[in-house]
Amino acid sequence: MPSPADSTSEDESGARAFPATAECLNSLPTEEISAEGLPPTIEWRAGRVRFLDQTALPGAVRFIETNDPGTIAEAIRTLQVRGAPAIGIAAAYALAAAAWTGPDDPAALRRRLAETAAQLRATRPTAVNLAWAIERTLRATQEARSGEVLRRAALAEAEAIHAEDVAANHRIGELGADLLPDRGGVLTHCNAGALATGGYGTALGVLRAARSRGKSHTVFVSESRPLLQGARLTTWELLQEGFRVKLLSDAAAASLFARRELAAVIVGADRIAANGDVANKVGTYGLALMAEAHGVPFHVAAPWSTVDLDTPSGAAIPIEQRGAAEVTCFAGIRTAPAEVSVENPAFDVTPARLVHAIVTERGLHRAPYRASLRAAARERTLHV
Ligand code: MRU
Repeated sequence: MPSPADSTSEDESGARAFPATAECLNSLPTEEISAEGLPPTIEWRAGRVRFLDQTALPGAVRFIETNDPGTIAEAIRTLQVRGAPAIGIAAAYALAAAAWTGPDDPAALRRRLAETAAQLRATRPTAVNLAWAIERTLRATQEARSGEVLRRAALAEAEAIHAEDVAANHRIGELGADLLPDRGGVLTHCNAGALATGGYGTALGVLRAARSRGKSHTVFVSESRPLLQGARLTTWELLQEGFRVKLLSDAAAASLFARRELAAVIVGADRIAANGDVANKVGTYGLALMAEAHGVPFHVAAPWSTVDLDTPSGAAIPIEQRGAAEVTCFAGIRTAPAEVSVENPAFDVTPARLVHAIVTERGLHRAPYRASLRAAARERTLHV
């Protein structure tokens, strides 16, 4: 057996001890970013899609550039690109890439797009932005009578989806900033920032807008097991801009509420059902219950493309189940017996009754959500 003091040692079988040390075994060469700010999460560059590999953060700022739609689908599946709006944008660009690399004959090109769309749809089921962006891009190509026109239509739509998302996030930030107190601790879960969107972010966009109005928060970030989007991504994104950030293990949240360190919770969403139930990163529901128990407001920020009025309630939202290794291993090191069976839902559903406000670019929505969301669907902009 390895000695407890030597946590990197191996026995004859090659098994490593689980290190319960106060220090990390390796130092992560956390990337500083340039003075221009955060790098773009995704962009179209001369016929190719270039996106930030979020699995490499915070150790490295690494980009993947491709014109192969299959590579983009795989990047979505493996969370190199992640976050509901960002995967919708990536899917739209993947369809544009399929069009740009496809045959000239419009019928053959349409078949290629349909195959690519099916491949993309199969990657992740919960975030409705994915299916929404795919359908929107396909619809935009319907009238095209030549390969050239179809190509341009697909790319124009993907770029519009991207630009509209950035604009929506800024509007969400402006509206949502009113929800936050002037000072105090604000908890967020997972990453609903620039990385997860076309830019600026939803929940983090609200924090950004609040800050630019002079509000001052300590942003508490729960690590978001098992893939650590909070620990790896949200802390990195916020630290680049000088936010006061405190990372906590997921299990520490309840005691923070009990100590009255939190004035509000704000999270993003992967799908908002017609009755206001919200699917978001697993662990969100627990935080909403804690917030309710401690009288802390719990808010959701998301673009309108995350609202799915065709899904009546959270019970009908498909919840992605991911592989067992995400739970039985930690950073590639096995931490649970290989034979244990695992439950690994990537998302959970927070019932509407626990949500104080949902902010979209169409307005601040309050309970009863069914009526508020239906009204917003009819109007371009809603001010409540
Ligand atoms: O599995 P992920 O990292 O794609 O999950 C992302 C989330 O749960 C986000 O909170 C959500 O997509 C909103 S992003 C603006």
